[in-house]
Amino acid sequence: MPTIKNLIAREVLDSRGNPTIEVVAESERQRAWAIVPSGASTGAHEALELRDGDQRRFGGKGVLKAVNHVNNKIKRKVRGMKVHNQQAIDELLITMDGTENKSNLGANAILGVSLACAKLAAAEAGVPLYKSIGDRAALLPVPMMNVMNGGVHANSGLEFQEIMIVPAGAATFREALRMGAEIFHTLQKLIGEKHMPTTVGDEGGFAPPLKSHEAALDLLMKAIEKAGYKAGQNVWLALDVAASEFYSRGVYNLKMNGAQKKVKAPELIGYFEKLVHKYPIVSIEDGCAEDDWDGWKGLTDRLGNKMQLVGDDLFVTNPKRLQMGFDEHIANSILIKLNQIGTLSETLDVMRMARQHKYTQVVSHRSGESEDTTIAHLAVGMETGQIKTGSLSRSDRVAKYNELLRIEEELGRRARYAGKNAFAKI
Ligand code: PGA
Ligand code: ZN
Repeated sequence: MPTIKNLIAREVLDSRGNPTIEVVAESERQRAWAIVPSGASTGAHEALELRDGDQRRFGGKGVLKAVNHVNNKIKRKVRGMKVHNQQAIDELLITMDGTENKSNLGANAILGVSLACAKLAAAEAGVPLYKSIGDRAALLPVPMMNVMNGGVHANSGLEFQEIMIVPAGAATFREALRMGAEIFHTLQKLIGEKHMPTTVGDEGGFAPPLKSHEAALDLLMKAIEKAGYKAGQNVWLALDVAASEFYSRGVYNLKMNGAQKKVKAPELIGYFEKLVHKYPIVSIEDGCAEDDWDGWKGLTDRLGNKMQLVGDDLFVTNPKRLQMGFDEHIANSILIKLNQIGTLSETLDVMRMARQHKYTQVVSHRSGESEDTTIAHLAVGMETGQIKTGSLSRSDRVAKYNELLRIEEELGRRARYAGKNAFAKI
């Protein structure tokens, strides 16, 4: 049985130029690495990302404390453990930390070790990571491609953080990716024709200064048509409203019907109903704020039987919060982000729990990413049928799509594309 011989952590940069942690795990014969991502619209209930707070380095965002935890305390304990016993490794990390939100060692330090060890185990077994997660897995996810960035990811002035295209009508993942890229480039031309900047936001989508969310959706509908596709037949739309970002004390402050408004949840939900009526939107993420359970209840009652309602900041990949969702019949889908909970084992547990309760799952990147493609493997290995990993530009986003192309090719005739079946409500 191979054992872990060494762990090496270092500070590297993420896609926004902020420091993050990379961990290398070594056995006698193999080595594997992982880079931890980082959010901007971070949920209040997420596990803690440990940052140094030393204003002389990276404006306080350095991660040397987390790096030191891996290179010293964690390494001493993990050395000698069996490479294949992920559960034991993750449990040790959780016990060593001893806090509810992993604030002692830092969820970034813990996740780096957890993922590097998982990849090392796959390397030792001589299989790709998706296979070591799900031996017979062969389902390629439908990508939700965030081609229009807003909220805290871009300065477009629009509150909705993400407007995504969903090429669920493709026959294969490869075809879905091509459709997405063609629509992306058509959209670029249309924005250029309006003499607006075609620069991109954190997740690689455009961020033109449009006056309303409807204007953004109209432009996207036009791009889909001009690229030769039919919205509602082979391509659909999805939103990540990220409502916690424009919510304060019971009030949502956003552009609605072209004007800035301050509204309560019922009015906001009415606005979503109007949009859903007009546009082929199949999924809305974080339509209400993370602690507005009443708002969420209203949203689920009114739209939950028509479409996918995804909890991101609401559930933060946390079993306790997800259980509250089941108990109260809130949302019908969960966003899966490894660094919200902090270990691979806990993430897989939450995913199994969601599956048991028939909540759909969307494996997701963070707005701060890297060349690490773990989430592509997680989506295939767990056969979630959906992934959200940004637009069709920036290598930190495209790296995941390219990895899915490789996996699809490797699976050959066994590969299946999730397509419309991934969405119970299409
Ligand atoms: P974040 O954004 O990584 O900045 O939290 C992604 C999302 O909200 O889904
Ligand atoms: Zn989100």
